[in-house]
Amino acid sequence: MRKFLLALLLGAGYSAAALAPRPLTACQGKVKLTVALNPAGQPTYAVAYGVRLVVNASRLGIALQGGPGFDGPLVLAGSEVKDVDETWQPVWGEVKNIRNHYQQLTVHLRQPQMPGRRLDVVFRVFADGVGFRYEFPRQLALGNFVVSDELTEFALPADHQAFWIPGDYDTNEYYYTHSRLSAVDGTAQVKASTEIAVRVAPDAQVVATPLMLKSADGLYINIHEAAQLDYPAMQLHVDRASYRLTARLVPDAVGSKAFLHAPSHTPWRTIIVSDKATDILASKLIINLNEPSKLASTDWIKPMKFVGVWWEMQIGRTDWKYAASADTLDAKGQLIPTSRHGATTANVKRYIDFAAQHHIAGVLVEGWNVGWEDWFGNWKENVFDFVTPYPDFRVAEVTQYAKSKGVQMLMHHETSGSATNYEQHFDTAYQFMNKYGYHSVKTGYVGRIIPRGEHHDGQWMSNHFVRVAEMAAKHHVTVDMHEAVRPTGLSRTYPNWLASEAGRGNEYNAFSIGNPPEHETIMPFTRLMGGPMDYTPGIFKLQGYATNPARRVQTTLAKQLALYVTMYSPLQMAADLPENYAAHLDAFQFIEDVPVDWDDTRILAAEPGDYLTTVRRAKGRDEWYLGSITDEQARTQSVKLDFLTPGQRYEAAIYADGKGADWQKNPASYQITRQVVTSKSALTLKLAPGGGAAISFKPVSKQ
Ligand code: NOJ
Ligand code: CA
Repeated sequence: MRKFLLALLLGAGYSAAALAPRPLTACQGKVKLTVALNPAGQPTYAVAYGVRLVVNASRLGIALQGGPGFDGPLVLAGSEVKDVDETWQPVWGEVKNIRNHYQQLTVHLRQPQMPGRRLDVVFRVFADGVGFRYEFPRQLALGNFVVSDELTEFALPADHQAFWIPGDYDTNEYYYTHSRLSAVDGTAQVKASTEIAVRVAPDAQVVATPLMLKSADGLYINIHEAAQLDYPAMQLHVDRASYRLTARLVPDAVGSKAFLHAPSHTPWRTIIVSDKATDILASKLIINLNEPSKLASTDWIKPMKFVGVWWEMQIGRTDWKYAASADTLDAKGQLIPTSRHGATTANVKRYIDFAAQHHIAGVLVEGWNVGWEDWFGNWKENVFDFVTPYPDFRVAEVTQYAKSKGVQMLMHHETSGSATNYEQHFDTAYQFMNKYGYHSVKTGYVGRIIPRGEHHDGQWMSNHFVRVAEMAAKHHVTVDMHEAVRPTGLSRTYPNWLASEAGRGNEYNAFSIGNPPEHETIMPFTRLMGGPMDYTPGIFKLQGYATNPARRVQTTLAKQLALYVTMYSPLQMAADLPENYAAHLDAFQFIEDVPVDWDDTRILAAEPGDYLTTVRRAKGRDEWYLGSITDEQARTQSVKLDFLTPGQRYEAAIYADGKGADWQKNPASYQITRQVVTSKSALTLKLAPGGGAAISFKPVSKQ
């Protein structure tokens, strides 16, 4: 460990600027960090990649309610550097081993107006970027305190191309767009992408993180955060004239940002950088900045694929609710069922049969529990108790049937935004799940957070999501959270938190204008940077499924298959109806085969907004799976198979766009071919407009 002691106890009467020491630096590979005090005495940092500037000198600081905070001139009280190089194994993931290699610079700062008040800024410099966070050491001069603003800036040197969604306090469910920073207009993008009224951050210049950027000279930059715990999500205000981005924290119900107590710290702010787009997707910087697993045991955590009583509701064929309304009662005061209830015992058995026949591990059932007549729009708190099934969902019989077929059931807990009600019930609800053999739950937070109007992405809800993960872990339950804050790598710490939605999934193709073909080429560079997404791929009936004939999935069928590889998740739904799969069982074979847990991942080609080719090696066996997708443009992708084990022969089953395939005109045209390949082979994939290709490589025995 090297030690720099640059200044010791500077007196409060001195000008910090006059005594500003020479800048501090830390490096790893091409990435260089510089930390300094600016002429006004405020701390700043800058990041370079080789000779290119990634972030110009940018402010650091935290303003506190009641002051004096860390927003004015500060005094540099010392610094330390250390090097760390370690390798760890995730419980599940894209690769078997993760190397965590960085140089850490800790900068100690003091508030001269209140000399006992201290702040540390800790930087970790990796070969592919920088993470830093503010730490509030234990100190008499800081007990409970309220953050009124975070002043972190990312001063970009030019008008980069940005891939972004608007900064909404309550949802990330917009489709991604791209523009120059100078042309960011969140209001226009909300209008373009939403048919659901949601509360929007009041500023058209605020974008969500992760934010993906590309410079004119080909530098790829991703800005996000890691380990967002006990703190609100960070959004970014874009100064359209200077390209300076400034942190905007999602407020609480009355406008405060974070209630903290020293010792504590903020999440890590992350800047990932490379001159190759593929490196951004391969980066492990965010997950490395999260703490190791807090769970006592993890052997009960199982990644899996599932089908579910779900898409049929999304497309309006059946409903979550049992009766037409909460007032539709018979003479005995019981709800009168309609014929449209989806979660009937008989219908669920149909999905269980399909899962059993096709080696799909799980079945999700939505709309199984009392409350759905009243769940949406009237802001009632105690709609669901999460333990009372509707009369036509015979929970014990379903469990017994699933068990007899070797299928696991996944439970659904829609909270309708009433997170406090959920916290009152979740212990009992997970006990109920244990009793009936459910080990996995999908939660949901549709609508406003009631009763106080906290925001989905604020500090209070962020803490709620962690409480859910912790309580679920206590009961050995894995979680998939919908309408949660977007992930920041916390599944390293809580590996039972398998996936989140927190973005615009395939479901938008059921009930809205949908997801344009380039959306899925941007998602891995944005929403997925923080962790897996329950995107619900695998729709085979791509048009004519909804009551509104204009609805269509904006991909080909082959691209739906490729998404199982390009959109990483340890929990993957085969989202379409069993009858739609029955019509294409040859294509369904890929979904049946594709794993959800991997020993290795290689990003072979990528360009945000255009295309992506990913190949992964199955956990514990020498099988590889490739997914290649394009936006609305037809493309040819040449793929060298040098990732395969040398000397081994494999059968490649290629699920490609068929003759005349086109997401608009002919989405269901696909062709499946098989050929024997080795590590010396190469393939040329022809992707249709909105198309893709999926390939399984299985070893053929040497004879
Ligand atoms: C929105 C979720 O994203 C969706 O998957 C779910 O079916 C509905 N809410 C109902 O909870
Ligand atoms: Ca949703």
